Amino acid sequence: MKKELISLRVNGRSHEIAIEPSALLLDVLRQELELTGSKRGCDDSSCGACTVLIDGVAMMSCTLLAASCEAQDITTIEGVSEHGSLAAIQKAYGDWGGAQCGYCTPGFVMTVKSLLAENPDPSEEDIRGALSSNLCRCTGYNQMYEAIRSAIAAERATVPNSE
Ligand code: FES
Ligand code: FES
Repeated sequence: MKKELISLRVNGRSHEIAIEPSALLLDVLRQELELTGSKRGCDDSSCGACTVLIDGVAMMSCTLLAASCEAQDITTIEGVSEHGSLAAIQKAYGDWGGAQCGYCTPGFVMTVKSLLAENPDPSEEDIRGALSSNLCRCTGYNQMYEAIRSAIAAERATVPNSE
């Protein structure tokens, strides 16, 4: 199939890439840009391991055409650290032992980032609802949820009280 040149903005950097029109974003990220943090755990949007942010919204890159993401800001797990330091959610994962094999972790982290951008003070129901499409095959959900709650509490503590 004939390739076409597209421009993708990933983690704040623009890339000109020649890809087939049918190329999926996950494959382009991993194979063309060597951003291998996003994982493939299925190929039908059923596990969330490939989750990235598109204009700040969590989306599954395994079923998204790369060409449809031109002119949008794409953030992968490689773009989550802040000024060279782990983001609060990444640090909390380490503190709480939230990752076992770690394969699902990038997808969970990206979904939590999207949730917090939309709702900085999510309830337990909100958290579980947002993460309902992310699967952990190691099934260590308890430590993972502790890590997520802890990161949310830490972020809340840094927000000045307006009262
Ligand atoms: S790899 Fe995309 S949802 Fe499973
Ligand atoms: S930590 Fe292994 S799949 Fe989630």
